Amino acid sequence: MERDPDPLMIVDRVGVEYRALDAVVPAVVDVSLEVPRGALLVLAGPSGSGKSSLLRVLGLLDRPTRGQLSIDGVDVGALSDRSRRRLRRRKLAYVHQRPVTNLVDDLVAGQQIAFARQVRGLPPCDAADVLGRFGLAHHVASRPVQLSGGEQQRLAIAMAVAGEPRVLLADEPTAELDRHHAAEVIDAIRRAAADGQTVVVASHDHDLIGAATHLVWLSEGRQMTVADGEHDV
Ligand SMILES: Nc1ncnc2c1ncn2[C@@H]1O[C@H](COP(=O)(O)OP(=O)(O)OP(=O)(O)O)[C@@H](O)[C@H]1O
Ligand SMILES: [Mg+2]
Repeated sequence: MERDPDPLMIVDRVGVEYRALDAVVPAVVDVSLEVPRGALLVLAGPSGSGKSSLLRVLGLLDRPTRGQLSIDGVDVGALSDRSRRRLRRRKLAYVHQRPVTNLVDDLVAGQQIAFARQVRGLPPCDAADVLGRFGLAHHVASRPVQLSGGEQQRLAIAMAVAGEPRVLLADEPTAELDRHHAAEVIDAIRRAAADGQTVVVASHDHDLIGAATHLVWLSEGRQMTVADGEHDV
């Protein structure tokens, strides 16, 4: 696959360390990668390999210990916390492993979609249409508690996409689901990417890895290979 001359995200020698008591835990070590526009990039690797730590840096939830990140040409390391928050709200959507973190208990699905657009200053859209794209048309009037785990995860992804972010980030979106619901969520993510949405996912789910257009393997925080379109697992 050809290199994108203008990647949406550029990660340059990023490291993440956690300090716990006297120990320093190197969670991400010297990782460099590019996220092309429209990619479905999967950060893969075993438990503890640094996937979430790296995803949190890409999602502007954490600052890296070292290295640089640019998003859409902006060096985000140089920004104040306030500017980073604003950039995060405007350009990124982060779907947490537990979708309830993203959802508002008291709102029905249609209202959640409207809310996701309102907080980004976007005009209202046809919420039923958005929900329909994620197989949730019949749940327009359902609250999160009335949805299955897979449906909640798809609603969280639908909300994220409705906010028209530059990048949709999702941490282990299928980890807590059975195979059937996981397949539905993978379809939703694949559809978002096919519609032009740039997506970065942390996962060790082989089916999700198989859907990747770009794959980055991590092992003990280090990047093993960056494969374009290679899905050997
Ligand atoms: N807040 C923290 N404080 C100290 N160490 C941490 C913290 N968060 C993560 N770590 C450590 O950093 C390393 C990478 O963790 P991380 O959560 O990024 O891995 P992961 O690949 O997402 O794993 P999993 O597949 O289990 O979610 C692990 O050794 C972990 O114990
Ligand atoms: Mg993780």
